[in-house]
Amino acid sequence: MKKILIINGPNLNLLGKREPGIYGSSTFETYLEKLREAYPEAEIDYYQSNHEGDIIDRLHSAGFGEADGIVLNAGAYTHTSVAIADAIRAIRTPVIEVHISNVHQREEFRHHSHLSPAASGIIIGFGLESYRLAVESILKKL
Ligand code: DQA
Repeated sequence: MKKILIINGPNLNLLGKREPGIYGSSTFETYLEKLREAYPEAEIDYYQSNHEGDIIDRLHSAGFGEADGIVLNAGAYTHTSVAIADAIRAIRTPVIEVHISNVHQREEFRHHSHLSPAASGIIIGFGLESYRLAVESILKKL
C-alpha cells in the first residue's frame, strides 16, 4: 500500500473558519475523510503545524522511507522559508507543493515560492481539490 503524508503549515488548522471566501467552508478533517474514502488503496497520513521547525522535522522523519510521497501546503512559509526548501532538497521522498488558492491572482508577495524549485510538482488554485490532484499524481507516479 502506498503511503502518502499530507503536511499543512500555519493557519491551515483554521480551514472552514478562516477567510471562507478564499479557502472554502470545509474543515480539512472533513475533506480528509472524503479523500481517504476515495483512495482506499492508499494510506494517507496527516500532519499540521504552525511552526516552521516542526514542519522541517516532519519532512525529515517521513523523507527517508516512511512515505512514498509528501503533499505539502506550507502556507505563508512558502513565501519566506529557505529552511523548508532546503529540507525538501535534503530528503529522498518527492514533495508536491500545493495551494488551495491561486496565489498568482493574489498579493504580489504570494507570487514567489521558495519551495517550487525544490518540489517535484506544484498544484495551485483548485481549492481543496488541489490535495486530491496531488494524491492522484503520487499514486499514478506522474
Ligand atoms: C496558501 C496560500 C498562502 O499564500 C497562504 O499564506 C496560505 C494558504 C493556499 O493554500 O492557498 O496560508 O498556501
